[in-house]
Amino acid sequence: MSALTPEIILALDLEDREQIHQVLEKTGDRLSWVKVGLQSYLRDGPSLVRELASSGKKVFLDLKLHDIPNTMTKALESLVDLPVGLITLHACAGPEALEKCAGFANKHMPNVTLLGVTVLTSTNQEGLNAIGVNNPVDDQVLRLASLAVNQGIGGIVCSPLELPLLRKSLPASTALVTPGIRPLNSAVGDQKRIMTPGQAKQAGANFLVIGRPILAAVNPRDALDSILQELNSTNL
Ligand code: C5P
Repeated sequence: MSALTPEIILALDLEDREQIHQVLEKTGDRLSWVKVGLQSYLRDGPSLVRELASSGKKVFLDLKLHDIPNTMTKALESLVDLPVGLITLHACAGPEALEKCAGFANKHMPNVTLLGVTVLTSTNQEGLNAIGVNNPVDDQVLRLASLAVNQGIGGIVCSPLELPLLRKSLPASTALVTPGIRPLNSAVGDQKRIMTPGQAKQAGANFLVIGRPILAAVNPRDALDSILQELNSTNL
């Protein structure tokens, strides 16, 4: 992936389909990518994805798959006809699951890039220690990211703080996708490892996943515009 202005992916973490339509009406053509996560997919299912795709949006399906290798590959098989461009799986599912999923997607999902989730952006060192992982967060992220890329996964989800490390450590073709984006003065919420949009651009992100800073804004269109403006005025 070349160093360019990252694309914004709007996380459609909303209460119902009506709210999704309302926010997309407000943000309009400024936005190419949307993210359908567990909240929306479990409620609205494949029909929501098809509807978004037929309205011209590119869809990131954020299911964060994590299971035994056979179940993960079968899960991908169930998604083979869906019009999506990005799908997440947890890199900590391990080498066999990652290799099998990458192999399946290469063969049967030519338009999909699989993304390996490393350490969730809501997890900090204390959270890692609590689940028995005593590696520093950076080391754990690099370990999981390298594992995923070595098994043929095309992109990585990481916190913006790890972008410089991953950009220099992984092949340039690896897509780096980062949530944990907070424009100055916006509420941090449960995110712990965050950056502003401009900082994430400079650190080498290809995609910024943004939810609440746009969704919870009094005017989502203005919030999106100001993020786009910040990105365009930030030099690499
Ligand atoms: O509202 P906010 O901007 O925090 O939304 C971030 C989105 O990115 C959420 O949909 C969340 O599930 C997702 N995400 C994350 N951290 C990861 C992977 C995905 O926050 N490591």
